[in-house]
Amino acid sequence: MFSAIAPRYDLLNHLLSLGIDRRWRRAAVDRLAWDARPRGLYLDACAGTLDLAAELAGRRGFSGRVVGADFAAPMLKLGAGKGRPGGIRSVAADSLELPFPSGCFDGATVGFGVRNLADLGAGLAELARVLRPGARLVVLEFTTPVWPPFRALYLFYFHRLLPLIGRAVSRHPTAYSYLPASVSTFPAPDALRERLGQAGFRDCGCRLLTGGIAALHWGTR
Ligand SMILES: C[S@@+](CC[C@H](N)C(=O)[O-])C[C@H]1O[C@@H](n2cnc3c(N)ncnc32)[C@H](O)[C@@H]1O
Repeated sequence: MFSAIAPRYDLLNHLLSLGIDRRWRRAAVDRLAWDARPRGLYLDACAGTLDLAAELAGRRGFSGRVVGADFAAPMLKLGAGKGRPGGIRSVAADSLELPFPSGCFDGATVGFGVRNLADLGAGLAELARVLRPGARLVVLEFTTPVWPPFRALYLFYFHRLLPLIGRAVSRHPTAYSYLPASVSTFPAPDALRERLGQAGFRDCGCRLLTGGIAALHWGTR
């Protein structure tokens, strides 16, 4: 599905979020504490078209390397050239079985990716495995606003309008119906924080973004 929608993925991301997705990615990188190891090796898992990897690689003062891993090669291909030249290396890989040694990364991000994993617990455990002790994981994911007036408005947009726009622009019959459906069955922020703890992360926290449309989660290996 992600390979099929790759050519229109970035356009739809920015269009459907009115550009707010850029702010969310900046907030994710701000949480990563990369400045403690600016020359380090970082992983962006489920990296897609590499926007989050590029946000980190392009930070002033960052001179490390970012590995962008995703199993949809067409998504990675569309991200080629983003970020500081030489700052990102893309790797076609399944996040449930990462081809990296244990403890080799100084930090990791996942943007709108963990919701898509066939086995959330196994994916979080695999991220814990490849991080060195003390390294931070930052997860950006959609959630559902709880404040009733905003929630009603948002749900109308997310479940009715977004699938129509997404289908028209991507020409994929189901990808943009899958998006709201997958968010509605995904663990709520408190439950996801617990799952991070169960996967081996400590000092886990979370912050809602944009009235609770998205949430930023973090934990330390
Ligand atoms: C919604 S996109 C997010 C892309 C990017 N992180 C962003 O912020 O825009 C989800 C990505 O997760 C990838 N993905 C889903 N399951 C995966 C898995 N098991 N291993 C690797 N990539 C996976 C998909 O191929 C897709 O590119």
